[in-house]
Amino acid sequence: FCSRLVLGIETSCDDTGAAVLDEKGAILGEYLHSQKEVHLRTGGIIPSVAQCLHRENINHVVQEALQRSGVEPSQLSAVATTVKPGLGLSLGVGLEFSQRFVRQHNKPFIPIHHMEAHALTVRMLHPIAFPFLVLLVSGGHSLLAVARGVDDFLLLGHTLDEAAGDTLDKVARRLSLTKHPQCSTLSGGQAIELLAKDGDRKKFPFRTPMGQTLDCCFSFSGLRNQVTMTIMKKEAEEGVEKGTLLSCANDIAAATQHTVATHLAKRTHRAILFCKANGLLPLNSPTLVLSGGVASNQYIRKALTIISDTTGLQLLCPPAKFCTDNGVMIAWNGVERLREGKGILPPNVDVCYEPK
Ligand code: KG4
Ligand code: ZN
Repeated sequence: FCSRLVLGIETSCDDTGAAVLDEKGAILGEYLHSQKEVHLRTGGIIPSVAQCLHRENINHVVQEALQRSGVEPSQLSAVATTVKPGLGLSLGVGLEFSQRFVRQHNKPFIPIHHMEAHALTVRMLHPIAFPFLVLLVSGGHSLLAVARGVDDFLLLGHTLDEAAGDTLDKVARRLSLTKHPQCSTLSGGQAIELLAKDGDRKKFPFRTPMGQTLDCCFSFSGLRNQVTMTIMKKEAEEGVEKGTLLSCANDIAAATQHTVATHLAKRTHRAILFCKANGLLPLNSPTLVLSGGVASNQYIRKALTIISDTTGLQLLCPPAKFCTDNGVMIAWNGVERLREGKGILPPNVDVCYEPK
């Protein structure tokens, strides 16, 4: 190999991921172990369980990614690992493993910010230059930022309470969607998207959050409240037990998805206008990047397409596989940092993880 090679390791939440990339962004080997099934059974992530599963799997995941790439640890140029933000117990497993690994093989260590990695993954697939606007929507985060450089992000808005994906997951759980045969292996957001296809969103006109707030922040807990109250009312009307509403689950899913999409689109529209007014984006082919687990939702993508079309931005959305958590995005962030010589530490430096 003449190119520099980076091993990326991700354990910030419920996915144990590893990947080896070359300097151009070619994925030489990758492996991902998802804990989704276990957490679906317990109705949410229990941090100590996630930690335990990361511990069980990390060695195998990293070895598998290395083996598939045909790269020996000695050939690596650096190891990049998520150190923030995320669940402390989960982050700790990847960090401890990585620090032991870089010391053993005497390799530089690159601490990675999980959200920055999400934001920059698009550059592995498309040759887009800085700056660009990015909307990240996942189970843990909802934020709007201008990516100005590998380590330069201007945060325009974030969620004031819960993340979009978290809301979708909670609504799905409240409707017991995972008990539907066709949803048993889906995340809450995927289940909502599937049910919404046969639903009428107009039956439940939920209020779009923050209509009067003149910033680019998000809020989803009020919407979740509206949805929960509606479900309770319907359950009472129909005399069915909690979580067994069947008659209008599709309509509620469609209305929830529509309101989340509208909220995301409106805040993004504000952000675009703000960027334009302040010269934060290039005049020539400005770009909006949509990423995070929720970005794989086709209805939400459509809403963002309308916004980007009307404001003259090119919309880029990495394929679902790269929108959700994985080792590839961490390795790519490592590659970008290695290229610019930013944030590269010698093997013997003690690094702490930062949940926030
Ligand atoms: O990025 P991700 O894999 O993990 C983090 O949260 O970092 O995102 C997972 C989130 C979950 O909340 C899940 O319900 C949501 O993304 N999600 C979706 C869809 N697929 C996954 N939400 C809406 N529509 C989807 N198709
Ligand atoms: Zn993520």
